[in-house]
Amino acid sequence: MRNKLLYLFTCFFCAVLVFESCSNELELNYQRYYVNGKGLYEKNCQNCHGANGEGLNKLYPSLTDTVFLSKNRNSLACMIKNGLNGDVKVNGITYNSAMPGNAELADIDVAQIIVYITNSFGNKQGFYDQKQVAVDVKGCD
Ligand code: HEC
Repeated sequence: MRNKLLYLFTCFFCAVLVFESCSNELELNYQRYYVNGKGLYEKNCQNCHGANGEGLNKLYPSLTDTVFLSKNRNSLACMIKNGLNGDVKVNGITYNSAMPGNAELADIDVAQIIVYITNSFGNKQGFYDQKQVAVDVKGCD
């Protein structure tokens, strides 16, 4: 009986440790992606979309439409890599303009930018792993 209790206790303790280290690693990765993503955003996106994702009138859409960004979560990698044309409705305004692609950005850069924009400007979508970029880009039209 005593051994069994000891065993149960050890298992519980190990599970807590594993859980702790996993969630710490996720949190660290999230922080790393977010900080790098901010730098990449400032370099590649901010000119048009603004420091606070506010966009520019009817020329450049804002990144504050949390519904649009969460609905299109798995299309963001395509938009960033290949650019975007045609009608998009953001915050109730229809844009029909052209966004240039960023083919030179590596998957990790794209993922970091996604973590940054989907967790800034009122968005709160959590982590997006670099491996997901290759998966999402397969679905680009
Ligand atoms: C030269 C200006 C320009 C740059 C630079 C630019 N965009 Fe855009 N972006 C646009 C325009 C214009 C649209 C709307 C395209 C359309 O009408 O089809 C757009 C649309 C978007 C959309 C979908 C609509 C929305 O507002 O949510 C996202 C997401 C987006 N851009 C993210 C980015 C990210 C991330 C970067 C940097 C990697 C970036 N853009 C760089 C001009 C730009």
